[in-house]
Amino acid sequence: MTVPDIAASRTEAGPGVTGATATDLLKARSAAALMPNYGMPPLALVRGEGCVVWDADGNSYLDLVGGIAVNALGHAHPAIVEAVSKQVRSLAHISNLYLHEGQIALAERLLSLLGADGRVFFANSGTEANEAALKLVRRVQGAGRPVFVAAEGGFHGRTMGSLSLTGKSSIRDPFAPFGVEVRFVPYGDLGALTAAIGPDCAGVFLEPCLGEGGIVPAPAGYLKAARAACDAAGALLVLDEIQSGIGRTGAWFACQAAGVVPDVITLAKGLGGGLPIGACIGIGAAGSGLGRGEHGSTFGGNPVACAAALAVIDTIERDGLLESASRVGAVLSAGIRAIDHPLLAGVRGSGLWLAIALTTPAAGLVEVAARQAGFLVNAVQPDAIRLAPPLVLDTEQARSFTAALPGILAQAGLSAGEPA
Ligand SMILES: Cc1ncc(COP(=O)(O)O)c(C=O)c1O
Repeated sequence: MTVPDIAASRTEAGPGVTGATATDLLKARSAAALMPNYGMPPLALVRGEGCVVWDADGNSYLDLVGGIAVNALGHAHPAIVEAVSKQVRSLAHISNLYLHEGQIALAERLLSLLGADGRVFFANSGTEANEAALKLVRRVQGAGRPVFVAAEGGFHGRTMGSLSLTGKSSIRDPFAPFGVEVRFVPYGDLGALTAAIGPDCAGVFLEPCLGEGGIVPAPAGYLKAARAACDAAGALLVLDEIQSGIGRTGAWFACQAAGVVPDVITLAKGLGGGLPIGACIGIGAAGSGLGRGEHGSTFGGNPVACAAALAVIDTIERDGLLESASRVGAVLSAGIRAIDHPLLAGVRGSGLWLAIALTTPAAGLVEVAARQAGFLVNAVQPDAIRLAPPLVLDTEQARSFTAALPGILAQAGLSAGEPA
């Protein structure tokens, strides 16, 4: 098999080959000025348009990462540019000492998309949305129910409360002990979940599909059964839709496709389309769980972020992007499934939220080969590549990736020293 020379026109060779690139210079400054917690990112991006981004050395890439499932409308979408510019020209920030209509309108809009009565608290990120949910559940349930239940392999954020719920020991353990007692169960194992939800359990935090865990959908009926187990034990069900929500799976919220109404739903990522915003939505009685003075945020739900979020929701609705996410996602997964390569084990997920499952832990090599071929993808797990592109991805762009994928896998296989 001939391996296409996919790296030919790109500038990732680094210093010593062609001299220091603009990216190399930024990396050197970054190493000296920024904490090393993100490692050293491979690229410096300078601009984007739709699903395409450009790096500091002028290379372009089809962005199938979307800022980790954030850039729902792609880059520099006119609706967001317009909404944010207009808002900044008027009021950028007022704090929550005062009302502004955008925040109220966004809360009304989210409740109407959920088709539920409830109340919304706005934060600035996913982890803060989950912190609000934790406090809400604790406040409703009281000290007599000290235990939370969450899933192994689940991810709920990096602040201390959300981190305590995050079921990956390499991320969590270095920061133990936590103030929240969490009982972890294997994701998707209904018997284990039901057994864990006892009379001491305040709430259950679940993702409808593991995101950071590698786009692992819940087995059919799992979320419904979790709802029933919570009801039977008097525990609250919190669904973390920070990654799955706002159209990512082809539905506004993944729980709608599963036919489940949680007590609390948390959102962030795609909601702001790139502007920082998170939301904790208490449904029904849970909407009144936090009283006056019991929670807050200086920036949470600020006018600019709310204007962006309203533009995201309007555009998804106006441009039929839920249907488009389902349709283009199906093209992507069918194209991947049609490829026969020893590295390829299959594809998981729905809408524009997919994992390319690999037969060996070669995801890092696949990510590099894809980048050299002009595609940004994410090695979410050692054996899984995450695709979470903007919801505006079109079928032609999807096909350009699946057409390049055999060459990418061949290149990764060569780098791994396996037969291509
Ligand atoms: C399901 C889920 N919950 C929470 C978070 C944390 O969100 P943030 O990084 O905005 O704090 C993430 C981020 O990846 C996530 O995927």
